[in-house]
Amino acid sequence: MPNEVRFVNYSLQYQNLKKEIDAAMEDVLNRGDLILRQDVEEFENSVASFIGVKHAVSLNSGTDALIFALMAAGIGPGDEVITVSHTFVASISCIVHCQATPVLIEVGEDFNMDADKLEQAITPKTKAIIPVYLNGRMCDMEKIMAIAEKHNLIVVEDSAQALGAKFKGKSSGSIGLAGCFSFYPAKILNCFGDGGMLTTNNPEIAERATLLRDHGQKTKTEILCYGFTSRLDNLQAAVLNIRLRRLPENIRRRREIAEIYNNKLADIPEIKLPPAPDDHYFDVYQNYVLKAQKRDELFAYLKEKGVETLIKDPIPNHWQPGLNLSHFVLPYTEQLAKEVISLPMYPELTNEQVDYVINCVHGFYSGQ
Ligand SMILES: Cc1ncc(COP(=O)(O)O)c(C=O)c1O
Repeated sequence: MPNEVRFVNYSLQYQNLKKEIDAAMEDVLNRGDLILRQDVEEFENSVASFIGVKHAVSLNSGTDALIFALMAAGIGPGDEVITVSHTFVASISCIVHCQATPVLIEVGEDFNMDADKLEQAITPKTKAIIPVYLNGRMCDMEKIMAIAEKHNLIVVEDSAQALGAKFKGKSSGSIGLAGCFSFYPAKILNCFGDGGMLTTNNPEIAERATLLRDHGQKTKTEILCYGFTSRLDNLQAAVLNIRLRRLPENIRRRREIAEIYNNKLADIPEIKLPPAPDDHYFDVYQNYVLKAQKRDELFAYLKEKGVETLIKDPIPNHWQPGLNLSHFVLPYTEQLAKEVISLPMYPELTNEQVDYVINCVHGFYSGQ
């Protein structure tokens, strides 16, 4: 039995591809290619074709992808943008950074935006919707897009956790006006720091994001707008190119691990598993998240057994004192904050480790 299962293992991930990564980084450094060079271009083209969009603009974070998507779409003061509270705070802060107003709605059993609650949140000021694909599962985009079209709203997909996920055959980041991805180390496709990408089929949005990431500079001598420093480093792009080639295999392995968890944890009445796979949703399991009774005790028990888990956001975003969002009342979201726990989930986990985690969860609920 393994006596330690880490929640993430960046070192092992690096060791497994060390030769290839070291060689690629050395090559970049020898070439002196640092900013917006061939590795960045290759990465953008590869991601665009991987998800099936015309344009992919690399940036320095998923947060900037969200901000630039809203800015490029003209969202600003006086506008309302609908998203969820049960997400990473960037899905909300991007709205505030555009001086627009966030409107937060409930999520459903799959932890994602409850499309049936969407229409009642729309007002004459509503301009956009940000569905968040939490844990690597997409939202019901058929319903969301139908409502968006009916009310003439922009949709920006927060795909930060869902590269490779699909809903009814459509890839995350290819459905709305723009898709936003993160390559932060904990993400399914990751670099050694921060990185992000905006994807779109709209050439104007792509052009605007390209300007915004580099201080509005169209050429060395022409500045078309005020912008930011938000480029993906060429060195990070070289690493991402290597890892992107492994992504389909890594997704396959994540889904395999999820299936083992699903099968072997199904008989514990005190926990609720993430939604089972079905024909419409192709989930990539960025995270494997349970709803668990006695969640905090389970966390402590697993820690004692050497299993690292994660309790993300024990305080819902709309209760965070610095965010001025406490006027939202979201009982299901508030309940989730007390119940959710993420089990270890990454391709490098062995079946033996997965079984160990499962046995420990069983041990906790059977009182061993
Ligand atoms: C759902 C969600 N949205 C947005 C982001 C922001 O991405 P980044 O950390 O690259 O800015 C993240 C990642 O942390 C995320 O999980």
